[in-house]
Amino acid sequence: LLKPKAKKEASWVNKNFGKDCDKCVNFLTPTEIEDLLKDGKPKAFCRCWKSKTFPMCDGSHAAHNKETGDNTGPLVIKP
Ligand code: FES
Repeated sequence: LLKPKAKKEASWVNKNFGKDCDKCVNFLTPTEIEDLLKDGKPKAFCRCWKSKTFPMCDGSHAAHNKETGDNTGPLVIKP
């Protein structure tokens, strides 16, 4: 049997990012969003917590979906 804390960790969606704070939240200002999009290309933000380039999507959701049958995907912001 898993110990209580290990059991909780096994159920975490977010296993790696910002674990030193109570809630992992990222904020972008309108200026930061404008800067991000100034190259004219869409930007994809990870919503599956599997990306190695978090908070940006690196496509890791595809393997997660294939392995689990889940249907996660990124938030895409278009210029
Ligand atoms: Fe997480 Fe794409 S890697 S949504």
